Amino acid sequence: MESLSVDYLVVGGGIAGFQAVLNLLPHGSAMLVSKGPLSSGSSYFAQGGLALPWGFSADAIESHVQDTIRAGAGLCDHKSVRTLIEGGSDAFEGLLRLGVPFDRDPRGQLRTTREAAHSRSRIVHAGGDRTGALILKSLADEVFRQPHFRFLSPYQLYRIRLDEDGVARGAYFLGERDSDLMEIRARAVILSTGGGSSLFLRTTNPRFQRGDGVSVAYRAGCEIERMAYYQFHPTVLDLPGSAPFLLTEAMRGEGGHLLDRKGDRFLFRYHPDGELAPRDIVARALWLELAKDPGQEIRLSVTHLPKGFVSNRFPQVYGHLKDLGIDLETTPVPVRPAAHFQMGGVRSDMEGKTGVKGLWAIGEVASTRVHGANRLASNSLLEALVMGKRIVPSILADGLRTSGPSGPEEARALSEMVLPDCLGEESWTEVKTVLWEKAGIVRTLDGARKGLEWVLERLSSGRKRPVHGALFAYANGLSVARLILMDILTAPIAGAHYLSYGSRTEQEGMARDDGSGLL
Ligand code: SIN
Repeated sequence: MESLSVDYLVVGGGIAGFQAVLNLLPHGSAMLVSKGPLSSGSSYFAQGGLALPWGFSADAIESHVQDTIRAGAGLCDHKSVRTLIEGGSDAFEGLLRLGVPFDRDPRGQLRTTREAAHSRSRIVHAGGDRTGALILKSLADEVFRQPHFRFLSPYQLYRIRLDEDGVARGAYFLGERDSDLMEIRARAVILSTGGGSSLFLRTTNPRFQRGDGVSVAYRAGCEIERMAYYQFHPTVLDLPGSAPFLLTEAMRGEGGHLLDRKGDRFLFRYHPDGELAPRDIVARALWLELAKDPGQEIRLSVTHLPKGFVSNRFPQVYGHLKDLGIDLETTPVPVRPAAHFQMGGVRSDMEGKTGVKGLWAIGEVASTRVHGANRLASNSLLEALVMGKRIVPSILADGLRTSGPSGPEEARALSEMVLPDCLGEESWTEVKTVLWEKAGIVRTLDGARKGLEWVLERLSSGRKRPVHGALFAYANGLSVARLILMDILTAPIAGAHYLSYGSRTEQEGMARDDGSGLL
């Protein structure tokens, strides 16, 4: 087994990971390991923007804090939220220094926009709807210029390397061939592997965003929490024969409407803010409307906006639809919700520290409780940037050292693992269907129980065999599915987060129809 050594090991090539590397490099060497190209992670696809306490006054901070808490359905940690929002100014200045091309008006002033549940316009964007890709590019360009940086890809995280004292001092990875087992020893390991929304049948996330960081951290002894809290994005393209594609919430922020079969803006029946109600409420309203009248299409319409505005402001979305033969400026498009963001994950504090010494977690893989049960739009890029910097003092304070390479005994033990049977795509589709149906927008205790039984049965097919990347990925998927379903069944506040999703009448009606009692 090849063994390399570095000061700081970052796993995951999104905005959180590159921000961490950029801030750690002044203190030592760093390596970033990614399982695919940078364009294969969620950061690259982030359309909406970067939410900031725009103006950065005490009042601007307070209003952003309050909007985050309100959207989070009462389940945010207030102190963490404040820490996050207060970090916005510094994070933004860092990006300006790197030259991120944020969109500006003809006078050179930065443009801001609104998205759902924001009480004011405070979101900055770049390239219209290419904010994630452009921030990631600026960070990566800067990091790749640094002498003590190394990028390793495609390598799949296999196991956290725990020394006998229980401290994480590196990680093991699988290369493209299963025999390419690689050890990377480090003083500190930073997990920034993203979430697991691609474990659901309908998702906005890139294909391999299947929560494997959570699964590996769980095996290393980290506490995993709030996995029931998945966010479903309401406006995801729903065209037969074409993959789900995100139609950014900023389109509603700029005045887009959601229309039912009759052409009515039905969301005002669910919330006084209509299309700009918190994302969970909008997603659930769409789900309910489509459940009531399965033959209907809910359409997103921006046809009333000035000609040329949509193609200019949302070039990526407009171009994608144009390629499918649809002109968004003249034609409303059918949408339905899809899994979008994981609010729970590896429990960590606002310095990114997990319960395992030597291991930090940041970004979507981490649960810092800043998002509650429903993340405020565009707070995720803010979190990635703020946390990628906040980890540094605690890593330096820990003063951890690397240890020597593993011996042949360890290498032999690593080369085998208990892994379940997997029939490739067919097996993946089954897991995704189970999660979509039993842990989706509307859940029942009975459904979650059945889902869990199914997952446990698949896991019990496991037997010891030589390590194999595809089977290992599937084992991770099942393990995350188990954590989600267990959390739905056991979280003491499960009822509380569910109740925030809709009116009592709807819940009682559905509980009766289904006969099993809603969470
Ligand atoms: C969107 O562009 O609608 C998504 C932004 C986000 O998830 O914050």
